[in-house]
Amino acid sequence: MSESVHELQSRALAQLDAIWDNESVEAWRVEYIGRKGAVNALFEQIGALPKAERGAFGKAANELKNALEAAFQAKVGAIKQRALSEALEAEPLDVTLPGRQPARGHVHPTIQTLREIYKIFGEMGFQVYRTRQVETDMMNFQLLNIPPYHPARDNWSTFYVAGAEEKVLLRTHTSPGQIRAMRAGYPNPVRAILPGMCYRYEQISARYEIQFNQVEGIVVGRHITFGDLKGTLTEFARRMFGARPVRFYGDHFPFTEPSAQMDVRCIICEGKGTDPLCKYTGWLEILGSGMVHPDVLRNGGYDPNEWSGFAFGMGPERITMLKHGIQDIRYFWGNDLRFLEQF
Ligand code: DAH
Repeated sequence: MSESVHELQSRALAQLDAIWDNESVEAWRVEYIGRKGAVNALFEQIGALPKAERGAFGKAANELKNALEAAFQAKVGAIKQRALSEALEAEPLDVTLPGRQPARGHVHPTIQTLREIYKIFGEMGFQVYRTRQVETDMMNFQLLNIPPYHPARDNWSTFYVAGAEEKVLLRTHTSPGQIRAMRAGYPNPVRAILPGMCYRYEQISARYEIQFNQVEGIVVGRHITFGDLKGTLTEFARRMFGARPVRFYGDHFPFTEPSAQMDVRCIICEGKGTDPLCKYTGWLEILGSGMVHPDVLRNGGYDPNEWSGFAFGMGPERITMLKHGIQDIRYFWGNDLRFLEQF
């Protein structure tokens, strides 16, 4: 009988050796070590044996059972391992391939323009000064020579903050920063740009947004003249738009006197007046400017008999549009990657 246990073991192991797939290995398990398998059949024979042989037979059958179970586990592991190496060989890994580039973030075109503006004015000795986006009516209008009900207010359609006791609003321009910069700077000269978000109660269209950036500039000193204004802003335009003619054109703002807009020659028609971008004038308006009005100087704490200054305000989105011929201001908040990735 011990002999047949031995034979069974050899046969089973030889068979297992040749097996390399999950289905066959399972069939093998059922055949040999399953509940109705060959090993259990041996145990069932024990009762029929002469008493003297039962011990040895039982021991041999147990060893067989353990050996086959161990062989089964080892085979299952080996099949798994072989499947893995086959899969790896089927898709070879080329370690010399360059890695995949992770998608990189992208600086928004408005921010790129803002950074250029900071750089140009930074090199001219201007500080960057930030002031609040939620302002009082006093700062946004009255101290800038725009009293309540003054018709000039029509130029700045305003979002008011509901329920505030004093009139509170979202600033319609960065000009209230002039007052804050002067009050912070007194009695020293001031030379600062003030960038930031502004808000207007507009019907959104290709030309108007309700939210946009401005960069204000303010210079206050002892002998600041209109010549300083022209020199500074002409140099700014040269660095921003390249060697391109500029002109100063009479304008009106309540907080400057005299006031002027600065234009650069149209980048499309080059002054011929043939393009809708410049409304057929040959010139593109890029900023408003002027000599700080004596009342505004006074409101900032400076005596207009001793001090003078100039100021300007520009829109980085508008400058970006003019530089790149962008037709619609809504792209700046559109978050359309087809637009953003061009810059
Ligand atoms: N605040 C003006 C606007 O929003 C722009 C401006 C014009 C600013 C003339 C100035 C200036 O500082 O001197 O339209």
